[in-house]
Amino acid sequence: MDARHPFSRRRFFGGVAAAVGTLGLKPTVSFGQVRTEQFTGGEEQYDNYIKLASNENNWGPPQSVMDAMTHGFKYANRYGNPDGNIMQAIAEHHGVKRENVLLTAGSGEVLDVVGTTYLQNGKVVLGADPSYGSVYQHATTIKSDAIKLPLLKDFRQDIPAMIATANRNARDIGFFYLCNPNNPTGVVVSAKEVRQVVEGLPKDMPILIDEAYHHFVDDPAYGTAVPYVLEGRPVIVARTFSKIAALAAMRIGYAIAPAEIVQRMRAYSINSVNVAAKFGAAASLKDTAGQAEVRRKVIALRTSTSKELEAWGYPVIPSQTNFFMVSLHDKTVQPTIQAFREKNILVGRPFPPMLNHLRVSIGRDEDMQKFLVAFKEIFPKRAPVTSTAAGQR
Ligand SMILES: Cc1ncc(COP(=O)(O)O)c(C=O)c1O
Repeated sequence: MDARHPFSRRRFFGGVAAAVGTLGLKPTVSFGQVRTEQFTGGEEQYDNYIKLASNENNWGPPQSVMDAMTHGFKYANRYGNPDGNIMQAIAEHHGVKRENVLLTAGSGEVLDVVGTTYLQNGKVVLGADPSYGSVYQHATTIKSDAIKLPLLKDFRQDIPAMIATANRNARDIGFFYLCNPNNPTGVVVSAKEVRQVVEGLPKDMPILIDEAYHHFVDDPAYGTAVPYVLEGRPVIVARTFSKIAALAAMRIGYAIAPAEIVQRMRAYSINSVNVAAKFGAAASLKDTAGQAEVRRKVIALRTSTSKELEAWGYPVIPSQTNFFMVSLHDKTVQPTIQAFREKNILVGRPFPPMLNHLRVSIGRDEDMQKFLVAFKEIFPKRAPVTSTAAGQR
């Protein structure tokens, strides 16, 4: 293992614990991950918060999806059939075969299943830091470990260093993790760099490419990794219905991978996707206009909010997702989270070592207006920023 980047379990849990502690929220374990904070107040109180902390879709499912889920309930007494033809719908959506699809309870289950499948016999995962922490946390839970490579100064993943480290430690590595675009930064790995990864690693090293935020990307340099599955590379693409399709609480996602990898992973999957989720997800894939509308709104609000923050003097990391990170200069994120909470707004959590950056999810127009008002009350105006997110759009 690369001694320069030892995995620190204490640091990871410390960050999460610190985040939830002062908010009066408790960590909740769900599908093997500390993924969201358990809210201890009532439903009404929660409804009153502006929720910009968990990268959810704040518009909620469209009518087409609600209707399909309601229809699906009629089969609540059945063990899995009918299923809205969801497997076929996903396979057709990507131009792959059903044998290339593993349907899971959210894409979080894909990440766990890849870990359980490939981190046996002392193998570890390699990825960037910070990135989506559940992958590293699951590795720790199953008594594995992670090699984590710091981001570059411009917050991109250091692809050449990741490839070189993977090759140097090839025998110890169970799989290579690439979150694209990355959470928490919102930064993409270009299609060219994804190719460098696929071609630069030992040819049998599994590569998990987490495309949870795929639908919000408008950078032409980005490309999905699904074509590599068709080429027969050991690439596993994770996708979710939690973001673009607004089905986070329904728990449905999937992996696209070569058939033999799907078969191997299936042994560790719990096959627990419920019927309403299946019908809703199938309807969402059909509702291309509804998905395009969410994408359009997210991109427009991402751009306008970033511009306004930068005009107020706070740089935003150019994001390709339904969230962004804003620099707080010398202020830290923990008291900031508390200050927003006092204004009924839930935002981010600490992502060490980026403790001067606040992650903010994109909400509806009115949510972002209120967020901006609160931001300006909490943070004084500074000289406008000219060079980053807003300037590049
Ligand atoms: C990068 C990334 N991957 C995977 C997930 C898991 O999402 P879900 O299990 O809801 O599909 C998330 C959730 O926020 C995420 O940010």
